Amino acid sequence: MATKEAMKYKNEIVQGDCLEVMAGMDADSIDLTVTSPPYDNLREYHGFTFNFEGIAKELYRITKSGGVVVWVVGDQTKNGSETGTSFRQALYFKEIGFNLHDTMIYYKWSGPLNHKRYEQEFEYMFVLAKGNIKTFNPIMVNCKYYGKDSDRTGQTYSQHNEKYRKIRSGIDRTNINPRRIRGNVWKMDNSSQRGERYDHPAIFPEKLANDHIISWSNEEDTVLDPMCGSGTTCKMAKMNNRNYIGIEVSAEYAEIARRRVEATHYQPDLFGICGHRLFPSFPGCTLSVGHSGFHRHQPRPVRGDGGEGAE
Ligand SMILES: C[S@@+](CC[C@H](N)C(=O)[O-])C[C@H]1O[C@@H](n2cnc3c(N)ncnc32)[C@H](O)[C@@H]1O
Repeated sequence: MATKEAMKYKNEIVQGDCLEVMAGMDADSIDLTVTSPPYDNLREYHGFTFNFEGIAKELYRITKSGGVVVWVVGDQTKNGSETGTSFRQALYFKEIGFNLHDTMIYYKWSGPLNHKRYEQEFEYMFVLAKGNIKTFNPIMVNCKYYGKDSDRTGQTYSQHNEKYRKIRSGIDRTNINPRRIRGNVWKMDNSSQRGERYDHPAIFPEKLANDHIISWSNEEDTVLDPMCGSGTTCKMAKMNNRNYIGIEVSAEYAEIARRRVEATHYQPDLFGICGHRLFPSFPGCTLSVGHSGFHRHQPRPVRGDGGEGAE
């Protein structure tokens, strides 16, 4: 149950060390956290440090049963070797009780670096769950092979030769659905923030925050970013009618986040992808996963089909 302390911070950007601020929040009060820590002190955030293990334990304590933490992280290369910090952090989250629900990839363009290796093009998005995940509103994409026959190998008939067809003739054949759940590699453009630039060195894309928020939470849930930087998660939570709590140690960044969130209003289906997360059999609604499977719940307004290509 949400308590006084959690209520106190609801819809606020709090300036302070997240470890101390989270210590003042109630257990089991947060539905979803979407955050990105300083990567191996890769960038200078005004010289602040952070205590990973303490933060991980606090996140576990304040997350509701079935709630989710999305931890977006990459590694630095030191003395010719990647640090592996991201893996160590994921394993530590498991050690303290989280399920590693999914290891997702944030695929991005970061420009040539001229190292003796292939260019770095991704970061990890560890999706951590406290017990059985309580909410999943899957984003749907169009299927490339919609309308063609297939067997359960997922191959189209045209991909089989005659002999293979005969061998498989007894098999139950199905039509390919028009839509399927999107894959776990998310290509996100971070080159601009819809025309806005913020004075922070490591802003993640609004769409990244948006898509996690609509996937792992419902309207009126509470979404936390304990290292909120310029406030991307909080902005997208507000736009999607979620409550937000942002914590940021730097007074300057906290102020940027506050200004950014204040200028934001509820905007249903911001990226026009609502239609992509519907199961064809349930037009006009989203689905949540409970202990017993999928449940229908409140419809959200649907605005068009979105511009995502077939996959
Ligand atoms: C990778 S950035 C987050 C950027 C954010 N996702 C955005 O889109 O703007 C990490 C942030 O964590 C903040 N930070 C570092 N240690 C912190 C701590 N102990 N408590 C709160 N914030 C902290 C840094 O100042 C920095 O702004």
